[in-house]
Amino acid sequence: MSEALMQNTTQQIIVGLGERSYPIDIGAGLLSRTPLFEQLPQQILLLSNTIVEPLYGDKVRAQLQHHTVVTHLIEDGEGAKSFANYEAVMDTLIRHNFNRDCAIIALGGGVVGDLAGFVAATYQRGVAFYQIPTTLLAQVDSSVGGKTAINHAGGKNLVGAFYQPRAVLIDTDCLTTLNARDYACGLAEVVKYGIIADAEFFAWLEAHQNELNQRDAAALTYAIQRSCEIKAEVVAADEREQSVRALLNLGHTFGHAIEAAHYESWKHGEAVAAGTIIAAYLMHQQDRLSSNDFTRIETLLQQLNLPVRAPQMPLERWQTFMQRDKKVQAGVVRLVLPTAIGQACLEPWSDWQALGTAIAAMSHPDAHSPLL
Ligand SMILES: NC(=O)c1ccc[n+]([C@@H]2O[C@H](COP(=O)([O-])OP(=O)(O)OC[C@H]3O[C@@H](n4cnc5c(N)ncnc54)[C@H](O)[C@@H]3O)[C@@H](O)[C@H]2O)c1
Ligand SMILES: [Zn+2]
Repeated sequence: MSEALMQNTTQQIIVGLGERSYPIDIGAGLLSRTPLFEQLPQQILLLSNTIVEPLYGDKVRAQLQHHTVVTHLIEDGEGAKSFANYEAVMDTLIRHNFNRDCAIIALGGGVVGDLAGFVAATYQRGVAFYQIPTTLLAQVDSSVGGKTAINHAGGKNLVGAFYQPRAVLIDTDCLTTLNARDYACGLAEVVKYGIIADAEFFAWLEAHQNELNQRDAAALTYAIQRSCEIKAEVVAADEREQSVRALLNLGHTFGHAIEAAHYESWKHGEAVAAGTIIAAYLMHQQDRLSSNDFTRIETLLQQLNLPVRAPQMPLERWQTFMQRDKKVQAGVVRLVLPTAIGQACLEPWSDWQALGTAIAAMSHPDAHSPLL
């Protein structure tokens, strides 16, 4: 990428979904330097949480002075994507007489975005929805593509809807307050886009790892822009995950197993990084990924402060968790497998012996916590 593109400007991407197309604006300081969104209705519900709202709520409300804004806060953490909070937000909307011509703005990470989106999809059969994602993961992944959901005791994201926002506003300055682990987790998804779709972007990430680790605004703007472009292209081609959208799950089948077994110590992006390495090693073992590409993937993840070894678990335990994956068809797991940097495929996989060898090689007895 030319250095001109790294200038500190606003970038806009359009997610092309016909009449439901929408813009994603990305840049440093956007929350205060441009109008938030065009044509917002009078009634606005600002949904955020107790961590993010004190940091950025005033900036958002300052731009909405001519609107009636009701702020609803949820608690921090994955547990907030609950039926109880869904109902509480509905109560707030009804109590304040919100009509169908209202808008819901999500200000926060993926948890706030997923809940707000599901509320927007279902309040009075659907009202306008806007996203201001504030974690790197939400900026490059959860705010793009229209998946919304809440959790059920029986599993994560079991109740939800496909519902696209009207616009997404990404202010890279929000990332200055994010903790190091959550920041690295977002980078795991950024690296994923390079591996599955864009060798040039992967090389750019390698060349700019220092700027990324320092959260340099211009580097972040480009990394987020390219990630959103790739996700937007995939979503435009396959909105409801019938085909190519599944490639976005690189590292996730293994990652979900790690998360399920060690939910208290492993974060999603960390588990995805360790899972990506297993998928890459499996392909390397089968002579379908060069040793050079394998090493580049491992090195980049490490340099971005992500774990590259999984916790040790008996193969049956991996099997149990991996069989729950939503990509399983007729009892056979289907894996996203990198065959080169910039290229991946989705493949049914029944050779558990080869899988067991790859998992064992890429696991470590001390990796029960990614921080070790
Ligand atoms: N809809 C999708 O397509 C999709 C895709 C991926 C993940 N998700 C969902 O996203 C969720 C995870 O998202 P996440 O990683 O953003 O988690 P999160 O929303 O819990 O945010 C992580 C932490 O960062 C805090 N935080 C957020 N912004 C901050 C900021 N600017 N400064 C300081 N702290 C900040 C949050 O309060 C939280 O403690 C999961 O529920 C997952 O299921 C959805
Ligand atoms: Zn993910």
